[in-house]
Amino acid sequence: MTESLESLLLELEHFGEQNDRATTERPRRMLNITRDTGEFLSLLVRATSARRVLELGTSNGYSTLWLASATRVTGGTVTTVELSDYKVSLARQNFSRSGLASHITLLHDDAERVLERSPDAAFDLVFMDAERSKYPDWWPHLKRVLRPGGLLVVDNATSHAEQMGPFIALVETAAEFATSQVPVGNGEFLAVKSNR
Ligand SMILES: C[S@@+](CC[C@H](N)C(=O)[O-])C[C@H]1O[C@@H](n2cnc3c(N)ncnc32)[C@H](O)[C@@H]1O
Repeated sequence: MTESLESLLLELEHFGEQNDRATTERPRRMLNITRDTGEFLSLLVRATSARRVLELGTSNGYSTLWLASATRVTGGTVTTVELSDYKVSLARQNFSRSGLASHITLLHDDAERVLERSPDAAFDLVFMDAERSKYPDWWPHLKRVLRPGGLLVVDNATSHAEQMGPFIALVETAAEFATSQVPVGNGEFLAVKSNR
């Protein structure tokens, strides 16, 4: 990681903490993943040699930068989706400062619409950190857009276990997926799609 990317990540961590402490208004909160989750995501992209990464829920782009720092190594790109005008504009500024813009495609759109229009097997890895109540509805598309052998990673498995319960139950009953929960950050739920 370059020194300038590391200092941008530290700046965003500081901003996220200060901002989220100062406001209770959810649309104005950054709700970023933790640093150890960022390190873990980056490692997963590299370990799986993922080149086509989809992120649902960009916020101001903190998690995207961790994913993109890894796609720079694998030679891939991150497509990241965010609905909020305010957060898209923050993310756009952060991506242009990061030196990683050529590895990021920012879509100002609804994650569900992006999933609907994505072809089968379009992604090697999907990181989901958006609207938890929607995840069960998105599941048919998620399993379709992941390539065989592809990896789904979902944040907040532990911090919001009750809200995540219905989605996790759905994935765990899918025969073609193997799952695990990892105690990193807010708890990561992992599901890998069978190669066959
Ligand atoms: C927890 S935050 C994402 C934090 C980000 N992954 C990070 O760690 O820096 C969730 C984000 O998902 C966005 N979001 C919620 N529902 C969405 C939807 N249907 N489509 C796209 N983005 C959505 C919210 O506006 C919010 O910015």
